[in-house]
Amino acid sequence: MTIDKSMMPGSSGPLEASSKKEISFWSNKYVLGLTTTAGIGGLLFGYDTGVISGALLYIRDEFKAVNDNSVLQETIVSMAVVGAMIGAAAGGWVNDAYGRKKATLLADVLFIIGSFVMCIAPDPNILILGRLFVGVGVGIASVTAPVYIAEAAPSEIRGGLVATNVLMITGGQFLSYLVNLSFTEVPGTWRWMLGVAAIPAVVQFILMIFLPESPRWLYMKDKKSKAIAVLENIYDSDRLQEEIDQLADASNKDSQSGKTVSYFDVLKSKEIRLAFFTGAGLQAFQQFTGINTVMYYCPTIVQMAGFSSKQLALLLSLIVAAMNAVGTIIGILLIDKCGRRLLALASLSGVFASLLILSYAFSLQPKTLGATLGSGAGWLAIVGLVLYIAFFSPGMGPVPWAVNSEIYPEAYRGVCGGMSATVNWISNFIVAQTFLSVVGLVGTRGTFLIFAGVSVLAFLFVLLFVPETKGLTFEQVERIWKERAGVLGMSASGGGQHLQGNEA
Ligand code: BGC
Repeated sequence: MTIDKSMMPGSSGPLEASSKKEISFWSNKYVLGLTTTAGIGGLLFGYDTGVISGALLYIRDEFKAVNDNSVLQETIVSMAVVGAMIGAAAGGWVNDAYGRKKATLLADVLFIIGSFVMCIAPDPNILILGRLFVGVGVGIASVTAPVYIAEAAPSEIRGGLVATNVLMITGGQFLSYLVNLSFTEVPGTWRWMLGVAAIPAVVQFILMIFLPESPRWLYMKDKKSKAIAVLENIYDSDRLQEEIDQLADASNKDSQSGKTVSYFDVLKSKEIRLAFFTGAGLQAFQQFTGINTVMYYCPTIVQMAGFSSKQLALLLSLIVAAMNAVGTIIGILLIDKCGRRLLALASLSGVFASLLILSYAFSLQPKTLGATLGSGAGWLAIVGLVLYIAFFSPGMGPVPWAVNSEIYPEAYRGVCGGMSATVNWISNFIVAQTFLSVVGLVGTRGTFLIFAGVSVLAFLFVLLFVPETKGLTFEQVERIWKERAGVLGMSASGGGQHLQGNEA
């Protein structure tokens, strides 16, 4: 067959010039099924990080030691995040060495063991051990699901499909709040809240057995006929040949093809360093603009704003979590249409404005200790909170995960994705651990002002460093870094307008 030269990896000609038939989000049931199954990892990520705030209330009732010791409480909460840091860092390597499918199965085993251990924990230490297991599972899933989905996805719908995994995360958080509410009267409360997470993990484990390994990973590991058999399920015959040609070309050019790269290899080449800087920066900014202060401390913020009723605080948190999920759906619809950059920039502008509103609302707080906002200012704070989520969820929620699943060359995708997910988890840990102390030091107004300042820096970072990857093949994205690193000669950039046009 004849292939449009502008689609060849060596060319940076516009994708729009391609003859290929575009695939729509809903048209490919196979890829949608694969995305949903892989997304159960995202669901568990959201559920396991969301469930603990409610469960802790009841754990405190059962274990006096926990009730009397705030360090023990913090450890129970944060051990999952510590586990996720370890899981993301190690999971990246597992992904590249053993494949996306085995990495997913490993995460499931950890989810199942961890949930079971927590459910039967006779004392707080065993409970903490269970949280660690589950956390490592969350970390592995946070790297694996986006990469596995991105590698099976046709490039024109890749952003939306990876964002679907983020919808599973936000959906998981919403579900955890619902479960927390519904198990309050059931004997054994927290044991059920933490234990039920084993069910989706068992379901994913069984479904994954029937799903294939990622075609791109198979191809890189020289299992070409298996890779092609998987691609046959995704593309029609015309497009299939195009995809195989691109894979073949990329693996011929890639000196690392077939090898499992190490963490140190990432630092050796300039283009990989540039890609990693961009990916990790986005992940850090996702966290340092404060999303998890809202997700983890929403009831506290609502109470700080003067609404003392626990029920109202919990209800508002549930509404915020639901809005977060709905906003992510908007992100899925937009990410492949307006692109990653525009979505992130628009999101950050709104986040900045909402943080200013929040900060202003809290500046109306009377100076006496423990004072809350008057009802007008209280409602203004709620408006700020709601706007914050409405702007964050379609953009800065999904974009960092989508960009990280698509900017690294094949041989580095797991390792770099894992390292930058680790940056996400470390940043998450820092923000969540310090939020209340920072509020104590500079006040709620000052804290939200700091986040507003960070969102300005994040805006500049996206503007200057994040390339537009909408609709590009992995090979075209790889070429962006080579051009930026000066590895490609100027003669090769004749058709580079498209890529430059995407850059800042
Ligand atoms: C972030 C999580 C966060 C969630 C909230 C995800 O994209 O990585 O840290 O809790 O969004 O919506």
